[in-house]
Amino acid sequence: MTKRAVVKGLGTYAPPRILNNHDLERLVDTNDEWIVTRTGIRERHIAAPEETTADMAEKASRLALQEAGITGDDLDFIIVATNTPDTLFPSTAARLQARLADRPVGGVDLQAGCTGLIYAIEMASAMIQSGSYQRILVVGADKLSSITDYQDRTTAVLFGDAAGALVLEGHEDTEFGVLGSYLKADGRGGDLLSLPAGGSRLPASAATVEEGLHYLKMNGNETFRFAVKAMPEAVEEGLKRVGLTVEDMDLLVPHQANLRIIDAAVRRFNLDPDRVAINIERYGNTSVGTIPLALEDARREGRVHRGSVVVLVAFGAGLTWGSTIIRWGY
Ligand code: UT7
Repeated sequence: MTKRAVVKGLGTYAPPRILNNHDLERLVDTNDEWIVTRTGIRERHIAAPEETTADMAEKASRLALQEAGITGDDLDFIIVATNTPDTLFPSTAARLQARLADRPVGGVDLQAGCTGLIYAIEMASAMIQSGSYQRILVVGADKLSSITDYQDRTTAVLFGDAAGALVLEGHEDTEFGVLGSYLKADGRGGDLLSLPAGGSRLPASAATVEEGLHYLKMNGNETFRFAVKAMPEAVEEGLKRVGLTVEDMDLLVPHQANLRIIDAAVRRFNLDPDRVAINIERYGNTSVGTIPLALEDARREGRVHRGSVVVLVAFGAGLTWGSTIIRWGY
């Protein structure tokens, strides 16, 4: 009998504080019209100073566990995809375990830029298929406001904070669940999107802070060019791997980095608006948070049904890109 990982629960969280484009006009030399036409973003949610990635991950996870009808003690493993862990170590996954479960549960952080959640779903799915794990909590959580330079207009307008969580569970001989995925990384493009200081390459010092190297740096134009190629490639190749085509796809849930990047994919595949999940307008780019937020909104709008073929696709720092294909329900 073969096992497959089905989605038993989905939960999301975005902090209550909203930073809209007009608020940003007071921080940097920008304007609402530029931000909306170039990115599609109108507002983003920003965590409170004391609110951490683990705090947001916990809130999303509790909702996912509740929907799955289980508690943290029922989990076999936790994977937290994040680029902004509470600390480099201990891991955010270990912090989350302590909050969700009374007994030890395996856990690890995974860092793959904004593609992290796609990677985490595939790894959890493979662990479940192996038969060694039955229930895995997969979380995507990022507090990008903690690494955003609010004096740099080219990045300050893009990012927000959020978390999303999925409970994956092994079911035997089912047509539902994670069907397969396509994952790629190419480090030659690593400098396009990076956090230069704070690692072993450039340990944090007064000089790195002085130069602002503890903030995210991005070559927006080159990243854009990469993204408009990577997203369609990942959609097509992911579907091909599981024997499906774009026509079989009921809902595309793309990483929400820029509405123009999403629109390029929509045009390429000639998709009707009801087959694409878009909510970048209200959240901006929350890195690994964008896909669960968009998926949850689509679900609330009644666009995800039992049996729906849902394609999650992302790109990000690394460079990384990839997709995962899920037949929704169980
Ligand atoms: O998940 C993370 C992945 N990151 C991304 O996906 C980002 C991908 N890249 C992008 O989304 C776009 O490249 C940006 C939104 C970052 C920039 O948009 P763009 O259309 O590529 O603009 P640009 O960088 O070519 O800049 C055009 C102009 C420049 O002025 P000049 O040189 O033409 O006078 C910029 O200085 O817009 C200016 N500009 C701004 N103006 C007002 C750049 N940022 C701003 C701003 N407000 N915030």
